Amino acid sequence: MKPSATLWVIGSYHNIFRVGAIMQDLGFWVLNDIVWRKTNPMPNFRGRRFTNAHETMIWAARDEKAKGYTFNYEALKAANEDVQARSDWLIPLCTGEERLKGDDGKKVHPTQKPEGLLARVLLSSSKPGDLVIDPFNGTGTTGAVAKRLGRRYIGFERDQTYATAAEARIAADRAAAGGHAGAVHDRARRAARGVLRTDRARHDLARHQTGRLQEAPRRAGARRRRHHARRQGRLDPPHRRGGAGLGRLQRLDLLARRDQEGPAG
Ligand SMILES: C[S@@+](CC[C@H](N)C(=O)[O-])C[C@H]1O[C@@H](n2cnc3c(N)ncnc32)[C@H](O)[C@@H]1O
Repeated sequence: MKPSATLWVIGSYHNIFRVGAIMQDLGFWVLNDIVWRKTNPMPNFRGRRFTNAHETMIWAARDEKAKGYTFNYEALKAANEDVQARSDWLIPLCTGEERLKGDDGKKVHPTQKPEGLLARVLLSSSKPGDLVIDPFNGTGTTGAVAKRLGRRYIGFERDQTYATAAEARIAADRAAAGGHAGAVHDRARRAARGVLRTDRARHDLARHQTGRLQEAPRRAGARRRRHHARRQGRLDPPHRRGGAGLGRLQRLDLLARRDQEGPAG
């Protein structure tokens, strides 16, 4: 981990205190604990305890002396009616079209995180072109959001079903921006989510999963050029409609970049 990198860990009361203690024993420096308050938590069915309506995220630097980590303070404040961003975030659980479902209509993953949560994490503590690593990839929420926001991404996942779903999600997401290939990938993505159940959509998904659905070379070339331009700051991160109010958050990203670059010439 670079001295300027930071680490985010999420958990509930079952594990987060132990994880936090281990992190501190290892020398990590806690910058904040963020409380993700769920607007729609699972009820406590037995009525013997409070409903667990939040999870805790620990945001930490590599060590006490670590310098130069990214925190887009001014941009976050500007996007919050000029009030400092708070450490409690009110965000719903991942439901509806965002939730990946299999052919059987069941959820692909039991704990798929909402994109809005990852968007806040990445927009507050990273810049376009930064490398984001999620060693517990699941359905690839971190990766999907990272790619959409112009960050580079590496994910690790031990379960092949989740890994396949994440790959399909990220590849289709990337291509969904335009043209026929975009439409085909979009169908595959929606088939992976179980939103679209037509034969055509299943066919596209199967082609993707067997590697037969590839981006056209010209499109891939254009994507690479856009990627380099974005890394050099010549192009804004890709914009995308829908998806947990990301438009507003991407405007925040732009403000953050202006923050770092200083006033224009
Ligand atoms: C809480 S889930 C992540 C969910 C993800 N954020 C999402 O939105 O879909 C944690 C994931 O880590 C994976 N995992 C657990 N231990 C792992 C390991 N040692 N190496 C790779 N993946 C692991 C699990 O299979 C699980 O999918």
